[in-house]
Amino acid sequence: MTPQRLVMTQPDDWHLHLRDGEMLKAVLPYTARQFARAIVMPNLKPPVTTAQQATEYAQRIRAALPQALREQGITFEPLMTLYLTDHTSADEIRRAQDSGLVHAIKLYPAGATTNSDSGVTDLHRCTKALEAMQRHEMVLCIHGEVTHRDVDVFDREAVFIDKVLIPLRHRFPELRIVFEHITTRHAADYVRSASGPIAATITPQHLLYNRNSIFQGGLRPHYYCLPVLKREEHRQALLAAATSGSPKFFLGTDSAPHEQGAKESACGCAGCFSAPFALEFYAQAFESAGALDRLEAFAAFYGPDFYRLPRNTKKIALSRVQQQITSPIAAAGGSIIPLGFGEALDWRFEGPA
Ligand code: DOR
Ligand code: ZN
Repeated sequence: MTPQRLVMTQPDDWHLHLRDGEMLKAVLPYTARQFARAIVMPNLKPPVTTAQQATEYAQRIRAALPQALREQGITFEPLMTLYLTDHTSADEIRRAQDSGLVHAIKLYPAGATTNSDSGVTDLHRCTKALEAMQRHEMVLCIHGEVTHRDVDVFDREAVFIDKVLIPLRHRFPELRIVFEHITTRHAADYVRSASGPIAATITPQHLLYNRNSIFQGGLRPHYYCLPVLKREEHRQALLAAATSGSPKFFLGTDSAPHEQGAKESACGCAGCFSAPFALEFYAQAFESAGALDRLEAFAAFYGPDFYRLPRNTKKIALSRVQQQITSPIAAAGGSIIPLGFGEALDWRFEGPA
């Protein structure tokens, strides 16, 4: 029988962009409604590179939760990250660890994506910081794409595995790694078969769409993210990994809001804003694979287990209600087009159960 209602432990989002200022205020409520906690990415302008900056950013995030949500009993815990640069010191990693607020360090190869100009140019420049992470058992979150202009944009993740990730893990076998937003069969296969402490997050857009969506009847910038959507065979490999029941794969939306004009542009920004319907998207994907019974562990168990945090105890519910995504989201004087705009969903997030 097809279920009409899904009740599950409240999930967390293990990869999220919240931005800052007015944009933060506009987008945070969507995540806080659905998720108890989130790993908050540090690619602000300028990036969050110190434990002190992460502490201040966490305060701004907490302050941005609207009173109306607090009154409904909604709480939100930001799990902070630092942006790894060529100059990150071992001392900064220790301060991050001691803060109790910073749960991971994020590696962006320089030039890989939005606000990654300060990213790492050569991992050999980060040896001291990587040693400190391994020693303190601090998680390294990786944007896994090489950025060399000779490498085809659709091959950047697969090349990264061979050229960067495997050598890195050889040098630091105990380093705890999350391979973020994986997009290919190569990445899913690598993570599944690798030994040692490695896991991967998977976004809703990479479970639901392939690269045709970017070009369907014209150029569709709201399906453009990085790493870019891949062929259908890769989408199917990711869906198989997410629904396999392996604790190495867990939820990370990579919800990345950009103002409409910044995406509908001659040089549009990368990022899909999935926060308003995040759990609905994942339910849609899992149901398409006949695996709704595996959604709870993917969304609410394997992430905290990997990060060595307690699982949430509150429950949330989704119900089987057809809904159409029809409204742009008002934000910071403009609007954001959410992922799936114009499409239909079979599920609707209800709230606490
Ligand atoms: O599509 C993306 N958007 N990928 C990223 O890695 C960064 C993100 C953003 O910050 O906009
Ligand atoms: Zn991201």
